[in-house]
Parts: sequence; structure tokens; C-alpha cells
Amino acid sequence: MADRYLSFTGTAPGRFLTRRLGLPQPAALHRWSPGRPALDGPLLRRTAGTSALGPGLAAVLARTGLPAAEQGPAADQGPTGDEGPAAGGRAPAAVVLDATGVRDVPALAGVHAALHPVVRSLAPSGRVVVLGAPLAPDDHHQAAAQQALEGFTRSLGKEIGRGRTVNLVRLTDAWAAESTLRFLLSPRSAYVSGQVVHVGAQEPAAPDDWERPLAGRTALVTGAARGIGEAVAETLARDGAHVVVLDVPAAERDACAVAARLGGTALALDITAADAGDRIAAALPEGLDVLVHNAGITRDRRLANMPAERWSQVLDVNLASVLRTTDALLAAGALRPGGRIVATASIAGLAGNAGQTNYGASKAGVAGLVRALAPRALAGHGVTVNAVAPGFIETRMTAAVPLFLREAGRRMNSLGQGGLPVDVAETIAWLAHPASGAVNGQVVRVCGQSLLGA
Ligand code: NAI
Repeated sequence: MADRYLSFTGTAPGRFLTRRLGLPQPAALHRWSPGRPALDGPLLRRTAGTSALGPGLAAVLARTGLPAAEQGPAADQGPTGDEGPAAGGRAPAAVVLDATGVRDVPALAGVHAALHPVVRSLAPSGRVVVLGAPLAPDDHHQAAAQQALEGFTRSLGKEIGRGRTVNLVRLTDAWAAESTLRFLLSPRSAYVSGQVVHVGAQEPAAPDDWERPLAGRTALVTGAARGIGEAVAETLARDGAHVVVLDVPAAERDACAVAARLGGTALALDITAADAGDRIAAALPEGLDVLVHNAGITRDRRLANMPAERWSQVLDVNLASVLRTTDALLAAGALRPGGRIVATASIAGLAGNAGQTNYGASKAGVAGLVRALAPRALAGHGVTVNAVAPGFIETRMTAAVPLFLREAGRRMNSLGQGGLPVDVAETIAWLAHPASGAVNGQVVRVCGQSLLGA
């Protein structure tokens, strides 16, 4: 169902009226399209004090394709070398603040000094990416100052407006974070804000072609006949993958149509079947590179009214089958080295939601699975395991939500609107990227920085 309020606030009278009435003013988000694949403006790099990253950062930022912005008077040394021409005069579309060298509270003054002069001029749908260091367990001053960056990031995300996003990346090596920085500094991350992403020190594996990073790879998406799963299949196919569109036998026609459109393969299978993992492995004798656990159901009732079968159906589809198929595919060696597992959680699993004790439990379980399996999978086969946690996404499921609740769901986030299935899909595509091997064990919310949960 179309978001009429968002369309209305996009008109001049709508803007005037909603401003006068003090109502939310969501901005139309700049999303990726072939005709408009990059942010509209230059990138400004700032450093709070000293950087712990070295020259790699400048080179990685240059490879985002965004021209370097002219440095203002308060800026320290700007991008150099092969970063492209300075784009004088244009409002920056992105600001990267390197705060990796912040080791104590006085150094946080550098965060204010670096961003205070520029934050107002950031273009609509612009990006602020704060770079932080891992928290040092034996240095409580460094840990306090670095943790402070999270509160800063989330607060700025809530006030910045105009479709702009603010995220924090903790890293030790800029090259390992290239795919992450490219994602966060592009229109692909339109609905990701207020997030903290940890990037490890894994050697990056740069693809031959950043436009089609999944070329020659096979991706399986469960629940891909419609909704978010269909968008995931489309996006992974755009990135070059051969996509296997899995859905229940009752949805086989739709799954076949999606597969035919994307040049992929349909697989009619109920993932709650005890042998689902073995059947997937049998259908893919040459193995699999990307496994996306997207299929999910809701059976909402308050606990006092919930029959046991509604409880167990949700736990079975959303969690038990994810565990079973993952275990079976890993045991069969079906996931190739460097493989990617991405599971779909939900903000309901992080924040809780009335009427969704079953669903919240299942989606929180997904986050537990990801965090525990990630280090082992990476150590064994170079496989990463991550989750996305969507917020309010415009799908058939949310179109059926009663009007008042739907409006509340849409507006109660920093971007003042619901996300689109493609927003979740783009986030999954970043996690599935061959250069994202250092992103592991993360639960990334795609929720426009929903007010629910942290
Ligand atoms: P949807 O209901 O439109 O699509 C789910 C798909 O999964 C359907 O095609 C369905 O046939 C398939 N499926 C269900 N049970 C299956 C089974 N046993 N085996 C194989 N396939 C099965 O749902 P939507 O909105 O696209 O959601 C996708 C995922 O995102 C789900 O895991 C959902 O919990 C999660 N999510 C969705 C949000 C939203 O706002 N739409 C918010 C947070 C999470």
C-alpha cells in the first residue's frame, strides 16, 4: 500500500502544511538505480585528532568513486593522491570522520570540531560514516571514549533529517572494510542508519568486477517467491549470481516466474522438512556460495491466547529450520570456501513486540545462532555468518496491518517512513559480497533507525 503521506510531504503545499503543524517530514530517499548509482556530491574526510588507519583509508575512499570535497578551514589534512579532483563548492554528499585515534574523553572534542561546521551543509540523502576503533579491554579510558561514539552516532542519526543516515564502523584496517565503506557511502544503504558495524582484520578478497561481484557464484534464497525474498533474489542476480529461488510447493508457480525472470532456478521445498538441507545439497551438486535464510512466518497472538501449534509453527519455520538446514549444508560441505550465510532476524526479536512472543523468540534466536556460529564457520572454511534485522518494510505483510498501527510503524524511525524490500536486499548483497569476509557475526538492522530497541 502506497505511503500517501510521504508523497504528500514531497509536494510544496504538503511541505508547508506539515511544517506548520509540526508533523514528521520524511524525505524521498535516494536509492540505487542504474541511472543514479552514486551519491550526488563529493565526499569530505575529517579526522578527530590522529588516525590509527594509515594511508589505506584515503585510497579506499578514493575507490568509492565519489570526488573529494574541498576541505573547509577547520579541516585537517584532506584526501590526497589519486582521489580525483576536488569538487569545489558543492555540498558534500558524504562525510567520513576518522575517529579511530580517539583514546580518551578530551579527544572527543575533535569529533565536535570536525563535524559541527559541516553537518548542516550535508546534502539530502547524504551519509555520515564515523570510523572507530575496537574497544580496548585493558584501557577503560579508550573504551569509554570509543563507546561514546556509539551514543554520538545514534543521536546524530535521530536529529540529522532529510533522508541522511549516520553509521559507525569499527575497524583496524581500511582495506578489510572496503566493501562496507562502499555500501555505506552509496544509495544502496538508504534505509540503514544508527548502526554499529564491526569489521575484522580478515584479508579482503576483491572481486574482479565491483559491478558484478557475484559473477560465477550460486546463491540460494529461501522464501523468494515474493516479498523481501524476491527482492533479494533480484539484487543478487543483478550482482551476477545464479539464484536458486526456493519456496513452498504451494508457491511454486510464483517461484518459477521469479526464477525465469532472473535466469535462475526454482526449488519447490518446505524448509521445515526434516531432510530439507539434504535436498538442497542434492539439488546443488556443485555447491553453493551464498545461503540466504529469508523464509519466515508470523502467527501473532498474545501469549495468553496462543495455542501451542502457533508457537511451534513460528519457531519451526523461523528458527529450527534455519539451524537444521545450516547444519546439514555445512556437514555436507555444500557451502564452498568463502561462502556467505545471511539470516533474516527482525527488530521484533531485538526489541520485543506485543503479540509476537513466538516471532520475537524465533528472531532473537537467529541472532544467537549468528553470533555463536560466526567465529567457527570463519575459522573452518572462511565462511561468514551474519543477519539482517528489518524494521517496518513495505510488503504485503505490512499492508495488511491496521491503518493506525501501519502509520505508527512507518513514522517511528529516524527516516519517518517504511523501508522497501530492496533496502533489505541491498544490505544482504553487501554481506554476501566476496570482499565482505571481514564482516562476520553481525546483526545489522535495516530499519531507518527505528525507535524500537537500541
Ligand atoms: P512474505 O510472507 O511476503 O514472504 C515470505 C516467503 O517465505 C513466502 O513466499 C512464503 O511462501 C515463504 N515461506 C514461508 N514458509 C516457508 C517454508 N516453510 N518453506 C519455504 N518457504 C516458506 O514475508 P516478507 O515480508 O517478505 O518477509 C521475509 C522475511 O523478512 C521473513 O523472515 C520475515 O519474518 C522478515 N521480516 C519482515 C519484515 C517486514 O516488515 N515485512 C520485518 C522484519 C522481518
